[in-house]
Amino acid sequence: MRDVVGPGVEIRRPQSDEPERLREIMIASKAHWGYDRDWVVAWVARDFSGDALARNETFVADAAGTAVGWAMLVPRGEVGWLEDMWIEPAWIGRGIGTQLFERVAARARELGARRLEWEAEPNATGFYERMGGRHIRDSETNEWGRTLSIMGCDLGER
Ligand SMILES: CC(C)(COP(=O)(O)OP(=O)(O)OC[C@H]1O[C@@H](n2cnc3c(N)ncnc32)[C@H](O)[C@@H]1OP(=O)(O)O)[C@@H](O)C(=O)NCCC(=O)NCCS
Repeated sequence: MRDVVGPGVEIRRPQSDEPERLREIMIASKAHWGYDRDWVVAWVARDFSGDALARNETFVADAAGTAVGWAMLVPRGEVGWLEDMWIEPAWIGRGIGTQLFERVAARARELGARRLEWEAEPNATGFYERMGGRHIRDSETNEWGRTLSIMGCDLGER
């Protein structure tokens, strides 16, 4: 199924030749917050997996045939895990994050989840709060010396 987001943007599944483009988006998107680019490239090299894209529930925001954002849901029974949420910087602030989040939430619910949880990039917590997310607990991940927040929302309320 393809969902129309706004003029010229739709949400679809990834294509088999797309992992490299999605990796580029992840780097540009994380670096958008001003982090050292070498740190970001090393961080993405550790975290990005083309296999995980195919194995999990991945959604791509497509503008005129080009991926401009993506999100990935890892189904985990009652609590779905939002693993990735990346918008190409030029497309930030245009509603694509909302559309990807809603699509992931709907898919998680469809697969039987009652809640959705994720580890939040500190600069993105305001966005997630707008999506109905709340701090659940501190993450055990130490990212560049910071403690990250695990956030979550009930899917029944959406
Ligand atoms: C965080 C991110 C996914 C948001 O996507 P987006 O497409 O820009 O978000 P939207 O345009 O759908 O915004 C939805 C709402 O959240 C608000 N919002 C968006 N980003 C925000 C932020 N960083 N802080 C506070 N509020 C934010 C918007 O103002 C909007 O509010 P409104 O409905 O009152 O107008 C995007 O900024 C991004 O990819 N950032 C870089 C990578 C990143 O941090 N990813 C998250 C990893 S955990």
